[in-house]
Amino acid sequence: MFGVPLYKYRTVTSTNDVALRLAREGAPEGTLVLADEQTEGRGRWGRSWHSPEGKGIWASLILRSEGGDLSSWTALAIARALREVAGVEAEVKFPNDVVVGGRKLAGVLVERSGGAYIVGFGVNLLQRKEDFPPELREVATSLYLETGKDWDAGDLLQEILERIEEVYRRLRGSSRGGHRELRSSLRGVP
Ligand code: BTN
Repeated sequence: MFGVPLYKYRTVTSTNDVALRLAREGAPEGTLVLADEQTEGRGRWGRSWHSPEGKGIWASLILRSEGGDLSSWTALAIARALREVAGVEAEVKFPNDVVVGGRKLAGVLVERSGGAYIVGFGVNLLQRKEDFPPELREVATSLYLETGKDWDAGDLLQEILERIEEVYRRLRGSSRGGHRELRSSLRGVP
C-alpha cells in the first residue's frame, strides 16, 4: 500500500516540500514522492542534505495516523532492509540516522502538516568518495562505498517501503512490546 500513488520528479527543492503540499491537498496515506535530485534537501536542525542527481533515494511518504517515534521506526526499517538486501552492518544511531561503521548512510526527517506526517528519507546509494563535498567525505558513506557494487534504487526502495509499512502497522497497534523492541534495536539508547 505504501508507494501508491507515486509522484516522481526529476528535480525538486525537497521531496518533503512536495509531499507537504500534496498532503494539504488531501493526498491519501501511502502517497510517495520521489525525485532524482533535490536542490534544497534538508535534514534535522536546519542542516542541508546533499542529494545529487541519480545517486540515491530521495523520498517522502505521507502518513495520516498518529505515528509515535516515526523517525526512529523508519530508520530501523531502512537499516533492516539494507542489512538484508545488501548485507551491510547498518545500525540505527538514535534518533534518526542509519550508520555503517560510524558513517552516515541514510537519514530520516519527519515533518507535520495538519493531520499528516511527512516521512522524508534519504539513502546514499551510488556516491563515490569524490561525489561528496569535502566536509562530508569522512562522515558520510554510500552503499557503493560499503559494498563495491552499484545498487538498483527501485529494488531497494521496494524493500524499504515494505519494512516501513510493517513497522508502522505494528506501531499503530501500539504494543508496548513494539516499543521495547525498538529501544533494544537502537544503539546508544539507555
Ligand atoms: C537528517 O539526517 O537529518 C535527515 C535527512 C533526511 C533527508 C531526506 S531526503 C528526502 C527528504 N527530503 C528532504 O529534504 N529531506 C528528506
